Amino acid sequence: MCGIVAYVGHREAHDVIIKGLKRLEYRGYDSAGIALLNGGLNVYKKKGKVSELEEYVKGIELSSTIGIGHTRWATHGEPNDINAHPHYSHSKNLAIIHNGIIENYSSLKQELLNKGHEFHSETDSEVFIHFIEDIQVNNNCSLDEAVRLALTKVVGAYAIVIMSKDNPDQLIAARKGSPLVIGVGKDEFFLASDATPIIEYTNEVVYLNEHEIAVIDGGELKIKNTQDVPLTPYIQTLDMELEAIEKGGYEHFMLKEIFEQPKSISDCMRGRLDANAGRLVLGGIREYANKLVNADRIVIVACGTSWHAGLVAEYFFEEFCRIPVEVEYASEFRYRNPIINEGDVVIAISQSGETADTLAAIELAKSKGAIIFGVCNVVGSSIARTSHEGAYTHAGPEIGVASTKAFTAQLTVLNMIALRVAHKKGTISERRYHELLVELENIPTKVEKALKLEPIIKEIAELFKDARNFLYLGRGFNFPVALEGALKLKEISYIHAEGYPAAEMKHGPIALIDEEMPVVFIATRDSSYDKVVSNIQEVKARKGKVIAVVTEGDVLIPKMAEFVIEVPKTDEALMPMVSVIPLQLLSYHIAVLRGCNVDQPRNLAKSVTVE
Ligand code: F6R
Repeated sequence: MCGIVAYVGHREAHDVIIKGLKRLEYRGYDSAGIALLNGGLNVYKKKGKVSELEEYVKGIELSSTIGIGHTRWATHGEPNDINAHPHYSHSKNLAIIHNGIIENYSSLKQELLNKGHEFHSETDSEVFIHFIEDIQVNNNCSLDEAVRLALTKVVGAYAIVIMSKDNPDQLIAARKGSPLVIGVGKDEFFLASDATPIIEYTNEVVYLNEHEIAVIDGGELKIKNTQDVPLTPYIQTLDMELEAIEKGGYEHFMLKEIFEQPKSISDCMRGRLDANAGRLVLGGIREYANKLVNADRIVIVACGTSWHAGLVAEYFFEEFCRIPVEVEYASEFRYRNPIINEGDVVIAISQSGETADTLAAIELAKSKGAIIFGVCNVVGSSIARTSHEGAYTHAGPEIGVASTKAFTAQLTVLNMIALRVAHKKGTISERRYHELLVELENIPTKVEKALKLEPIIKEIAELFKDARNFLYLGRGFNFPVALEGALKLKEISYIHAEGYPAAEMKHGPIALIDEEMPVVFIATRDSSYDKVVSNIQEVKARKGKVIAVVTEGDVLIPKMAEFVIEVPKTDEALMPMVSVIPLQLLSYHIAVLRGCNVDQPRNLAKSVTVE
């Protein structure tokens, strides 16, 4: 979704901002723009990529030590040069960049039109800055006071940064429902939607909280809330390396992140799990651990790939902990009147920690008295901060829009939580508990082995790159993996793909099967193996092309399937972390062969901060 970068200090602002906007490209966007004080308050903006904006400003004298920049993912109005940010105020003395949506913008716009304001774009953001200026003029007050007053009147979500023609040292920022981080350097400040544009300059950051306003003026940062109460900025030190957000020799971030999984899974277990010592400690779930142990029900809320991780978790929470689990799309849950009882625990799963629907589902569950456990990847993110307790996945920054290493890290954390709870609750035998701890520790090695399958998968990708449809089938723990495989393929290669529980196929999708239809079976050796074998036969009988992910040494399925991908053996509860690897690689290679933009697929955004 939209990205914000702003700078004030002693460097060339456009260098910092353009580089920062490129770092935020992974979030998804369709236009980009920048405002600088280079002999006046000048705005330059362009539909398309940041590189097109760079081309557009070539030859212009851009020197300025203050500036704001933005990548826009269209909500109000189509992606074009005019709707791109920054936007000017009525007098053109102010410029704004804005992430989020102002819901009451049309009534504010009408009010301002009646006063003679003219609008150039179709955006709510332009209305926002006109409104702020109108308040400043009418109240004859400072800009930060005008911003504060405006924020008490707008309805919706925002992260904003405003600069003024009259003050080359001042940036004003605010947030509600959309993230904003302030990097604190020596006599300089960096503002961004996440820390990636900041870390090459400083690792000292302040995360702006909901309803807070930051005023940076004359080299000083002051924070207050919308009630005008001054607050002390809380400076944190970020634990993030620059290499983590660079491609490191890989052609795409997605491929780098797929290959990082042995490490990201290990990082996720580091300091938490020691199978030899029989130790499993999750610092983040200490205080509320008993709530989970005694929970009558667990409700998992999430979206997309994180929702798939929730589906796998449903299987192992029920299996190990004997607690009933419901897995909800956050976007559906929040608009129902869900029944949340005392004794229910809500687990929210999110890579970005900023997904608007998941955040809203949490707020709703909280308002009904539920305890929230957050499972997030981005440290300091909104969901992490709004949850009562939780555990980070520690997968490191995920830049590719298609989620890969976050999924396996989510499964690792959720498995650890389930095993910890089951052990405390006494619903798992000591033997099985220890077996699973040992096997969990072995997963990075097995993932490493599964990654070696890349050459075979590339060959399969070559053969099926022109398919128009794909079906993914799995049962039990591997059913959510089928959903995930289908989602990965459709989002980056634009091939229509559906995931189904294998047995459901005969209730409808079987009608689609003919000699043109590739069917990917996740058919590893587990309790439903024999049933899956029957489902493969049903597909074969209708001339479908079977690509089967099987356990190493399988002798039966290779006789039936056209293509076989053998993954290392592991416990069936942990298999999704291994069986998903070939599916990630298959979608990656098909997308590359089709010439798709793998890291930034069309229409998609990395963190979906709109409803
Ligand atoms: C799929 C994908 C999306 C996200 C979804 C939730 O590859 O990236 O489906 O999984 O938007 O995002 P988070 O996990 O950040 O809440």
